[in-house]
Amino acid sequence: MISCIGVGPGHLDYLTLGGARRIEEAGVVAGFQYVVDLIRPLIPASAAVITMGYKDQTERLAEVAALHHAGKVCAVVFMGDIHFSGFQLLERVEKACGHKVETLPGISSAQVTAARGRVCFDETTFLTFHRRGDLSPFQEHLVHALQDDRNAIVIPRPWDFMPKDIAAYLLREGRPAGQMVEIWEHLTGGESHWKGTLGELTGEFSDLSIMLIRSLRPLPTGLEGEKF
Ligand SMILES: C[S@@+](CC[C@H](N)C(=O)[O-])C[C@H]1O[C@@H](n2cnc3c(N)ncnc32)[C@H](O)[C@@H]1O
Repeated sequence: MISCIGVGPGHLDYLTLGGARRIEEAGVVAGFQYVVDLIRPLIPASAAVITMGYKDQTERLAEVAALHHAGKVCAVVFMGDIHFSGFQLLERVEKACGHKVETLPGISSAQVTAARGRVCFDETTFLTFHRRGDLSPFQEHLVHALQDDRNAIVIPRPWDFMPKDIAAYLLREGRPAGQMVEIWEHLTGGESHWKGTLGELTGEFSDLSIMLIRSLRPLPTGLEGEKF
C-alpha cells in the first residue's frame, strides 16, 4: 500500500485528519526534507524515514518503491495538495512504483491564498510555472485569463520566472501597470504579505511565495479594507 498525502502549505493545522492517520499508520514515510520536517511529530518511532532533495529524488523514490513492493505501508508526503502543481512529482512516484498510486488531497497554498485575498475560485484561474520545460503556453494562458477579467493565483518558477519576471512579462503583454498584485511568502508558517501594482513589482521574493493578480473588476462597494 502506498499513498501520496498532501500535508498543507506549512503548518500541521492544515493537515487533514485522514492524512494524519495515514502517516501515523505508515511503516515508511518519505518526502522532501522540508515537508517531512513539518509532519515529523506524527511519524511513528518504528517507521523508516526517507528524505530526498531535487537531485536525488529518483534514487530515493526507487528505495520507497522497493519497500512498497516488499509489503510495507508507505506514505509519500507532499507540500500543500498534490493536485496543485504536484503532478510532475506524482509521475515520478508512479514511474518508480510501476503503477498508479492513491492520492489524498491536502490544503494547497493556492487555497490559503484565496482565503487571505478573499477571492472565490469560481472567478479565479490557478496557474503554476513551477514546472520543467517550456513555459510559453502557460504564460499565454495567464494573459488570456487576465484579459477575460479573472483573478489569477500564480506559482512562480524558481529562479528564472519569479514575481518580478512575471510582472515584467505581463507589462510587455500590455497589462496595465496599475493592476493590483499581492504576494504571500511562507503562508501558514511565519508568513509575510506584499501588496502593490504590476508596475511596482520589482522586488525579490523567496521560492516559497505565491501571487494573487486581481482582476480589474471593482470590489463590491465599501468592502475593500473592511475587517471581519
Ligand atoms: C511545486 S509547487 C507545490 C505546491 C503545493 N502542491 C501546494 O498545493 O501548495 C511549490 C511552490 O508552491 C508555493 N508554495 C507552497 N507552499 C507555500 C507557502 N507555504 N507559502 C507560499 N508559497 C507556497 C511556492 O511557490 C513553492 O515554490
